[in-house]
Amino acid sequence: MPKIDPHALITAALRARKNAFAPYSNFQVGAALLTKSGHTVGGANVESASYGLTCCAERVALFKALTDGHRDFTAIAIVARAPGGPMPCGACRQLLAEFAPRATVFVADAARPRTIRRFDIAKLLPGAFLRVPSKPAARAK
Ligand code: THU
Repeated sequence: MPKIDPHALITAALRARKNAFAPYSNFQVGAALLTKSGHTVGGANVESASYGLTCCAERVALFKALTDGHRDFTAIAIVARAPGGPMPCGACRQLLAEFAPRATVFVADAARPRTIRRFDIAKLLPGAFLRVPSKPAARAK
């Protein structure tokens, strides 16, 4: 498995952030997912005039990667102009817990990209809902 280079992944997230579409919040976020085989897939937030339809950078990157056929992820980097770096929202934590459960999460302030904080997705969403419980067995007659 290729070694994870946090700085390279943060750089990829900074590159992806350039394509953020965030005219309403003016908060541009970039993300970059690293696959087990060493591919990097970037994404940025996309906002809608109907604000609630907005999609976070993390989910854009994840959906891009999944629909390109990637399934195994080792890390994700997230950048924005935020002190200490942007923490993923609850919805993104849920999807990362499902599709990238062992991924390391790197975050950095886009203005100070060499200062990287790291987290484990499993710790960011303890007790995640991961599957619909199977139907209870039919009661014996
Ligand atoms: N946003 C992300 O893209 N990722 C995060 O982790 C937090 C929030 C976006 C959504 C919206 O476009 C803007 O940031 C403000 O919430």
